[in-house]
Amino acid sequence: MKRKLFVTTALPYANGSFHIGHIMEYIQADIWVRFQRMQGNTVHFVCADDAHGAPIMLKAEAEGVTPQQLVARIGAERKQYLDGFHIGFDNWHSTDSPENTELSQDIYRKLRAAGLTYTKPVEQFYDPVKGMFLADRYIKGECPKCGAKDQYGDACENCSSVYAPTDLVNPYSTLSGAAPELKTSEHYFFRLSDPKCLAFLREWVGNDRLQSQVANKAKEWLEGKDDKALGDWDISRDAPYFGIPIPDAPGKYFYVWLDAPVGYLASFKNYCGKKGIDFDGFLADPQTEQIHFIGKDIIYFHTLFWPAMLKFAGYKIPDQVYVHGFITVSGEKMSKSRGTGISPLRYLEIGMNPEWLRYYIAAKLSANVEDVDFNPDDFMARVNSDLIGKYINIASRCAGFIAKRFEGKLLGQDESNVFISEMQDAAPVIADLFENREYGKALREIMSLADRANVFVDVNKPWEIAKTGRPVDLHRTCTDALQMFRLLTLYLKPVLPQLARSVESFLKIPELKWSDAAALMPEEHEIDKYQHLMTRIDPKQLDALFDIPAPAKEKMGVSVTSKSGSQSQSPAISSSSTPHPTSPGPAAPAAAAATISIDDFAKIDLRVARIVKAELVEGADKLLKLTLDIGSEQRTVFAGIKSAYDPAALAGRLTVMVANLAPRKMKFGLSQGMVLAASGEASGIYLLAPDSGAQPGMKVK
Ligand code: 2FM
Ligand code: ZN
Repeated sequence: MKRKLFVTTALPYANGSFHIGHIMEYIQADIWVRFQRMQGNTVHFVCADDAHGAPIMLKAEAEGVTPQQLVARIGAERKQYLDGFHIGFDNWHSTDSPENTELSQDIYRKLRAAGLTYTKPVEQFYDPVKGMFLADRYIKGECPKCGAKDQYGDACENCSSVYAPTDLVNPYSTLSGAAPELKTSEHYFFRLSDPKCLAFLREWVGNDRLQSQVANKAKEWLEGKDDKALGDWDISRDAPYFGIPIPDAPGKYFYVWLDAPVGYLASFKNYCGKKGIDFDGFLADPQTEQIHFIGKDIIYFHTLFWPAMLKFAGYKIPDQVYVHGFITVSGEKMSKSRGTGISPLRYLEIGMNPEWLRYYIAAKLSANVEDVDFNPDDFMARVNSDLIGKYINIASRCAGFIAKRFEGKLLGQDESNVFISEMQDAAPVIADLFENREYGKALREIMSLADRANVFVDVNKPWEIAKTGRPVDLHRTCTDALQMFRLLTLYLKPVLPQLARSVESFLKIPELKWSDAAALMPEEHEIDKYQHLMTRIDPKQLDALFDIPAPAKEKMGVSVTSKSGSQSQSPAISSSSTPHPTSPGPAAPAAAAATISIDDFAKIDLRVARIVKAELVEGADKLLKLTLDIGSEQRTVFAGIKSAYDPAALAGRLTVMVANLAPRKMKFGLSQGMVLAASGEASGIYLLAPDSGAQPGMKVK
């Protein structure tokens, strides 16, 4: 009986590029999906951009683009990573889509009809300058216990006390600096505490769907700890918000976490539309299994809200949620927005083989929720020893003789070779490990088979038989070694799909399926000439991966806009800037400037600055007068950006300024620093902007 699978990975926020954490999750899921397909199962494997929410809205605003433009730009980047690492999603969509609007609103209407939604007034901080309610992360103030300044609304970093945002002394909005006001508005709730929801979730989490650590966590939340029973879920946000309108509720939008997982269905529906698949029929089939791969930070949403929403709206409920840990690099934790020291794009750009990373990540992965560490030395040692030293080595030592001495043809089967039959017998064991996401164990099993194949070659020494003129023995040894190589390739195929394709073509065999382990290549089977299949990792490549040279960082020709408005070319200072909406495309790289030391660079005091005000300057063609807030003080800077920016659009934006430039007296007044902007040969000036979350006064280094 073949299985019908609907598989997803978590939808990444559409406000940043993929980092290595995303790639790890996709590799984990992709291996599982490829394995299922080799079993002959039907799999629909989809993902999408998680487009909605306040951070994306604010980032777009800071960049002077619409949220849709921001999402489209990020969405367009995805393909190069996915193709690059051989991640074979069937579809990539967006939660900001007609399918998602329709499905989210339908789910809501059904929950409402089931009596599981209600409204109640909620009092919350409101930013009178931005005209919006503030999520806790946008509020700071003085700690009510120890008085430390600039503390977030939940806990003090200085004395560790925990409190509510409303307890902060002198609170301020990190978006505008304004003092927030308490304001009440009507919010929509999902009645998660309803006894029927609780009863359903108890059954759902206790049903062997989840890894034990995950089930325990979910049960803890469900049963409540420290008298905190599972509360109802606030599913609405007030305008302005980038999200899906709540039906019959003007000015109210679904909180992003309501519509995000619905995006799984939306992407699948979009795919079904393109392929003529019956979306409702596929999900309604009791045989269909719905499986979500996610990280450990989003268990709450996927084990409580999501199954309950689906259940009580009459949709199919998830069958499995497979949770993985985080990836660290040399033990260093990753920042959710910026990732780690490894840039997946750089990995590809410097020509490193994506299958090295797939193999290494697979070797580290298991079915539990532990973090995995990428250690560069271990990576190189593991890949070089396993893939080149063990696996490829079998073919490279034997294949040449078949082509040269035996017209590319193999001998018939060798019943007496127990190595081969034992290797065939390993198929169900390895399958079981892949099925259960025990990839590390699967690869250890496969490598122990490769070790035995190498022992076989070592003992028979084809290079020596070739000299002694025993053609039948040579033919036998090389044929058997290649039979083993084919079986190893089959077992490695979910992890190394590209390499497996090259081997299939070199061995002139059809695409390997799992059931092909039972058979061998027949007598007289003709293979192609051997060509080298994979190279070793060179330590220089690892150096290049971690030590990003200055010119490589220089994606755009970044120049410094001086206070007098003249443009001077300088080495790249930041690669985090994002292209202007009307950017004509990548600028020609500016000539690299002379190398400076880190100490030279450290002399420049770069600070995040908020543009409080931007004004035209009477009598100046190129200049705008900017009032900049750098946390501790305000500065006036005259910047030559008038041709590119409407002053009204600049107020509130974050940028970067050189804070320790000697003040300069100008015709129009004193300029106390300068702001950074990019420009190239073509016209256009592009102010730098930090990612959202950066605060005025933060040092850029
Ligand atoms: O945590 C995140 O990155 C979310 N964008 C994941 C959403 S998963 C699903 F619900 F869409
Ligand atoms: Zn404190």
